[in-house]
Amino acid sequence: MNSQSRPVIARDRLIVALDVPTQTEALNLVRDFSPEVAFLKVGLQLYTAAGPEIVRSVLATGAKVFLDLKLHDIPNTVARTVESAGQLGVQMLTIHLSGGAEMIRATVAARKNNLSILGVTVLTSADEQTLRQVGISDNIRDHVLRLAKLGVDAGIDGLVASPHEVKMLRAQFGVKIKLVVPGIRPSWSEARDQKRVMTPREALEAGADYLVIGRPIIAHPRPREAVTKILNEIES
Ligand code: C5P
Repeated sequence: MNSQSRPVIARDRLIVALDVPTQTEALNLVRDFSPEVAFLKVGLQLYTAAGPEIVRSVLATGAKVFLDLKLHDIPNTVARTVESAGQLGVQMLTIHLSGGAEMIRATVAARKNNLSILGVTVLTSADEQTLRQVGISDNIRDHVLRLAKLGVDAGIDGLVASPHEVKMLRAQFGVKIKLVVPGIRPSWSEARDQKRVMTPREALEAGADYLVIGRPIIAHPRPREAVTKILNEIES
């Protein structure tokens, strides 16, 4: 199937994580699987190495950008950073909801140009021992829900959720909140350090709006082939 005959919905639900160390590697990947991939994630590693220029270069290909900077700072600093991201022209930006209601409200008030603010609740690398270390006695599920409610009440547009939280969050917040879901592993790929994974199909059935997939695509010997297999699986 070529990209023209592919239903828009499959392409629009896949976000490929450009977790590579240089601008050259990132742009080689984008060229390899463009235009099959419409949405790319630039995270801390690539942004620190290649800065706003890589974001502009990816946007110039016609793709959308999810800038995954997981902001957590005083409200004024985060709000000004959100303004800069809006000027860059990215479509999604992440903040840590543990920054509290005032910080979240400041980011929401500062967003412009169709920029969606996504809240991160508890990182998937954290377990209950991690919460105890920082003085939180709730279990993970309750803490995720508490932070998610704080974010939704303060006006965020969506949440980054582990595949295993999607059902709970969809039931709680309905369709008005975008659920962006990493930790996705097609059946043919290795889990690597992601512990609680789902296949693209399972995550969509659980209620995910967007799937974030990195290594199964970018570490594949033929990234475009991996993209095609995943899009076919999403469509099936
Ligand atoms: O390579 P992989 O598919 O595991 O990449 C997942 C991407 O999603 C990475 O960029 C990672 O930083 C990000 N992510 C995650 N878990 C979260 C939040 C973001 O894996 N809770």
